[in-house]
Amino acid sequence: MAPTAAQLSWLRRLLFLLALLPLARVVWLGTEGRLGANPIETITRASGDWTLYFLCFTLAITPLRRLTGQQWLLKLRRMLGLFCFFYASLHFLCFLWFDHFFDLAEMWKDVKKRPFITMGFSAFVLLIPLAITSTAAMQRRLGRNWARLHRLIYLIAVLAIVHFWWMRAGKNNFGEPIVLGTIVALLLGVRLVFRWQAARATARSLAVELSAKDPG
Ligand code: HEM
Repeated sequence: MAPTAAQLSWLRRLLFLLALLPLARVVWLGTEGRLGANPIETITRASGDWTLYFLCFTLAITPLRRLTGQQWLLKLRRMLGLFCFFYASLHFLCFLWFDHFFDLAEMWKDVKKRPFITMGFSAFVLLIPLAITSTAAMQRRLGRNWARLHRLIYLIAVLAIVHFWWMRAGKNNFGEPIVLGTIVALLLGVRLVFRWQAARATARSLAVELSAKDPG
């Protein structure tokens, strides 16, 4: 029950609009003056949360595709990944601009005071090459290296969870980091199961081939 090209195109448009809703909500609350006592903190946190959610949505595509057999889901992955990068860029911009007004010395002081920022920064830097090479043309050009490069997403997911966990550890508030950490662990763990199944299938077919060649 794969969608037709026209249905997929509508689905993409709908997904694009839905993905912009968190940004629209913050802009709307901002214009209404309803961003709370600390608007910068609200914006930084909302953009950080949505970066992490889009990272999870992106990582969920492969398991969903494998479990349901719906290959077309892969066609949504690039957009989800780019929205992860988009919200990460907004999150970083909030820190750079609203929090520190591009003052590098102040930023450095803050990083020393709150070392969890380095984890988020590393995750963001690693997202850049993935966003740049996300096009079909780049995928063709890089060949097998494209898949190798894009495996960085696993490291990015781990860094993002450490960043979130470490930030909340300072506040002794582990509820959400535990939930998101478990989701990320499941999304990465299921890939190990797929690999193990593929290795077993290869070993089995090799054994069948060998016994066919040498039945005695
Ligand atoms: C993939 C990249 C990143 C992800 C997934 C991410 C995610 C998050 C999340 C989920 C939070 C907590 C929000 C909450 O409490 O609800 C957060 C907070 C924060 N992040 Fe990131 N982040 C990333 C990159 C960065 C970068 C590049 C910086 C700055 C250089 C940064 C600086 C911060 C700061 C300062 C906070 C704390 C905000 C506060 O205390 O008000 N993050 N991030």
